[in-house]
Amino acid sequence: MERISDLEILPLTMEHNFWTWSAQAHVNPIPVTRADGVYFWDVEGKRYLDLNSMVMCVNIGHGNQRVIEAMVEQARTLPFAGPGMATRPRAELGKLLSEIMPQGLTRFLYTLGGSDANENAIKLARGYTGRHKILARYRSYHGATYGALAATGDPRRVSWEPEVMPGVVHFLDPYRYRSTFHRATPDISEAEFTRDYLNHLEEIIQFEGPQTIAAVLMETVTGTNGVIIPPDGYLQGVRALCDKYGILMICDEVMSGFGRTGRWFAVDHWGVKPDILTMAKGLTSGYAPLGAVAMREEIAASFNDRVYQGGLTYNGHPISLAAAIANIQVMREDNLVEQAAKTGEVMADMLAELVERHPSVGEVRSIGLFGVLELVRDRKTKEPMAPYNGSSAEMTRLRQYLLDHGVFLYTHWHTVLLIPPLIITTEQLQEGFRVLDRALDITDAATASGGSA
Ligand SMILES: Cc1ncc(COP(=O)(O)O)c(C=O)c1O
Repeated sequence: MERISDLEILPLTMEHNFWTWSAQAHVNPIPVTRADGVYFWDVEGKRYLDLNSMVMCVNIGHGNQRVIEAMVEQARTLPFAGPGMATRPRAELGKLLSEIMPQGLTRFLYTLGGSDANENAIKLARGYTGRHKILARYRSYHGATYGALAATGDPRRVSWEPEVMPGVVHFLDPYRYRSTFHRATPDISEAEFTRDYLNHLEEIIQFEGPQTIAAVLMETVTGTNGVIIPPDGYLQGVRALCDKYGILMICDEVMSGFGRTGRWFAVDHWGVKPDILTMAKGLTSGYAPLGAVAMREEIAASFNDRVYQGGLTYNGHPISLAAAIANIQVMREDNLVEQAAKTGEVMADMLAELVERHPSVGEVRSIGLFGVLELVRDRKTKEPMAPYNGSSAEMTRLRQYLLDHGVFLYTHWHTVLLIPPLIITTEQLQEGFRVLDRALDITDAATASGGSA
């Protein structure tokens, strides 16, 4: 086929592509041609500041030559080997991962991405415990395949019910800003707040029958559902409940892992050791598709004499493994985890300033370079700027303004997510926040005060 020109990219794609997560007649894709650092460019040469790390995954930034070279080298040596083969990248990555994982997670099952990492985590938990139920939270996303979708609490699951995997029971998240239990007692202490949500979980465990529950599956820090950061003591409490009832604790760190929160993994902030941890995205920073399930030795050993029924043709693809190895090396050499923690503090200050300046910002939350703004029509009632699972004219205009001014980020219902590459500098963050600051005038005008702070 003749090489097409840049200007043909968009029309030709529109002609033949079926788009995921989209109503086909309503898509408006950016025809992207190249990317470097925290920026990418479209066919017309317009530059975008990438405040979403593309799909919350390009943690080391775009176009890193060390990762690209490692992939090219692997492609030259051994571009493919079956999932049952021992290869150099398989040997090396396991060693590297076991060095950065929470203690005790020493075995790795490689997948193609986050969804199938969670699918396998569920299978492993069921196989290990001999129990079938999975507890997961309402404000969560665990993937789009039928098992991971069943675990997902948000409306992305509801569209495909009732055909999703059976056996999942959902519970509530410790989401302070909109806590169902504390509408009349918003000033409750963090310890009591935490206890209420742990009691809620324990009650559900008892109602469902602990002997039927294989695992509690949760995003350590909830991602697309609003960067919900667990209060101190919550994860430790979940760990204790899991131990008490012989339930496995699975932490989904697909989005929160690999430096995103200013630690290698979000669980490291609270010193909690899950039985299983799933990862993807930042594992390769998106340079190649890869996910992984990290597990305790004991869980792996329970399959010593029986077959683990599961696997896909491309599990442990050598080029993806090589990308992951180089990606981790880049993160280490350039101290990106430490850098994310530092720049995260700068971002937290910038977020706090937006609260001061804009009445439509109801609350901001962040941990490392993982941040969110909750936009509201009224700070007192906390009425969201768009309804749950919906959009609004203001949110659409806000997003369009940002894109028009070269800032790419993710808006979800009434929230704006800030998930930039970990390499972002203070100046680059300022560049994005200047545009965001102006864009928020749009939502301010829709507040009860009509825009005055
Ligand atoms: C927390 C979490 N889990 C799982 C997934 C699914 O990962 P993938 O899209 O690689 O299948 C995602 C993707 O956004 C995610 O954010």
